[in-house]
Amino acid sequence: MNKISIIGAGMTGSTTAHWLAEREIADIVLVDIVEGMPQGKALDMLESMPVIGKDVSIIGTNDYADTAGSDIVVITSGLPRKPGMSRDDLIKTNADIVKDVTEKTFAVSPDAIFIVLTNPLDAMCQVVFDTTGLPRERVIGQAGILDSARMQAFVAMETGVSVENINCYVLGGHGDTMVPLTRHSNVAGKPLDKMIPEDRLAAIVERTRKGGGEIVGLLKTGSAFYAPSAAIAQMCEAILKDKNLIVPTSVYLQGEYGVKDLFFGVPAQLNRQGVAKVIEYDLNDAEKDEIKSSADHVQANVDKLAELLA
Ligand code: NAI
Ligand code: 2OP
Repeated sequence: MNKISIIGAGMTGSTTAHWLAEREIADIVLVDIVEGMPQGKALDMLESMPVIGKDVSIIGTNDYADTAGSDIVVITSGLPRKPGMSRDDLIKTNADIVKDVTEKTFAVSPDAIFIVLTNPLDAMCQVVFDTTGLPRERVIGQAGILDSARMQAFVAMETGVSVENINCYVLGGHGDTMVPLTRHSNVAGKPLDKMIPEDRLAAIVERTRKGGGEIVGLLKTGSAFYAPSAAIAQMCEAILKDKNLIVPTSVYLQGEYGVKDLFFGVPAQLNRQGVAKVIEYDLNDAEKDEIKSSADHVQANVDKLAELLA
């Protein structure tokens, strides 16, 4: 059986374990700094396996030795934002946490693929990349599946068409500068602008950009967890089943989309090696401008982080 270790057994970490257990694709190790909590959640989840008929091992622990030999390490440890905070406000605290847990997991799972969720996402991917020295294939950030799924959900609500028929692609940094590509998105092959009036489509784009904040505003004590963790489970399955699935994820770009040496959200093909390929769309000038300003924002964040850590 494959092994996935999830670092951070809070809202996103524990729901990731739940979605993964349902898929029965790996044994699961839940790690947290809080004593007892990951053990309790893991045992509770394990006791639900007879009900849903899935044979997977789920353990909770505070000891990194239990994560040894993981095929995938998922990093969710860190603080979520509260109302009034941006993802960027979390940068220094979460960078310290992410660096620490990366060192501990990498020491015992040198062959793992790392999937990062902690915010600010693109900058935290950089921390894992720098800490491990892994090739870019094996450090992947989750953001684009979530942002695209939000847009798909809003398009489904607007059109009354099944979510299965809706394809949306949101690229760029995981923040207010993300780039929902309406021209490349469609409902069963029909372009969005042929299905939805212009003002309604603009409202969907705006709601997508603010989608994370909308949930924070409602929850008040934390941020979204069901959709983000479903996205991680999809990435894990694509990797472990060697599916060659193309999904938007944060990848260390090497000139694609005019962006270099930066983690940034783009469509990428995932298989057992991690990132097999970055897919490049033909963008018009307006889309290129949006990508550039999103990349500038992520670069500023990474620069700020470098200063804080110096
Ligand atoms: P949470 O607060 O529910 O869970 C975080 C967990 O990390 C806590 O249980 C905490 O004890 C643990 N933790 C903190 N320091 C640790 C350490 N040194 N070692 C091990 N565990 C440690 O937060 P939630 O909702 O799970 O969010 C986690 C992170 O993911 C946040 O930074 C949030 O902003 C981010 N996020 C990113 C998304 C994305 O699409 N990229 C979507 C949703 C959340
Ligand atoms: C979100 O978009 C918090 O980044 C997270 O919901």
